[in-house]
Amino acid sequence: AFVVTSPCDGCKYTDCVTVCPCECFREGETMLYIDPETCIDCGACEPECPVEAIFPEEDVPEKWQHYIELNAAMALEKPPIVVKKAPLSSEGG
Ligand code: SF4
Ligand code: F3S
Repeated sequence: AFVVTSPCDGCKYTDCVTVCPCECFREGETMLYIDPETCIDCGACEPECPVEAIFPEEDVPEKWQHYIELNAAMALEKPPIVVKKAPLSSEGG
């Protein structure tokens, strides 16, 4: 599965949700998560993120490894998001 990592936190550009064919994205307060159970590894979301927050699970940087479990856990409790919204910050983070 693909994984949303730290650069999304505080940004939530949400460009990623518009290209996902499987409605994998879940919306947390400060960042999005990908449900690993529904992600088909199509890779469409990865280049859409302006802050490069999305990685294939096997390519998640060492310092952000904990996001793999975080995405899986949060996918179970957060609501789906399929429509683009205004970002939290226009400066990235
Ligand atoms: Fe959706 Fe494809 Fe990204 Fe998985 S890799 S979250 S299926 S756009
Ligand atoms: Fe986050 Fe990037 Fe999507 S900032 S909401 S992963 S486009």
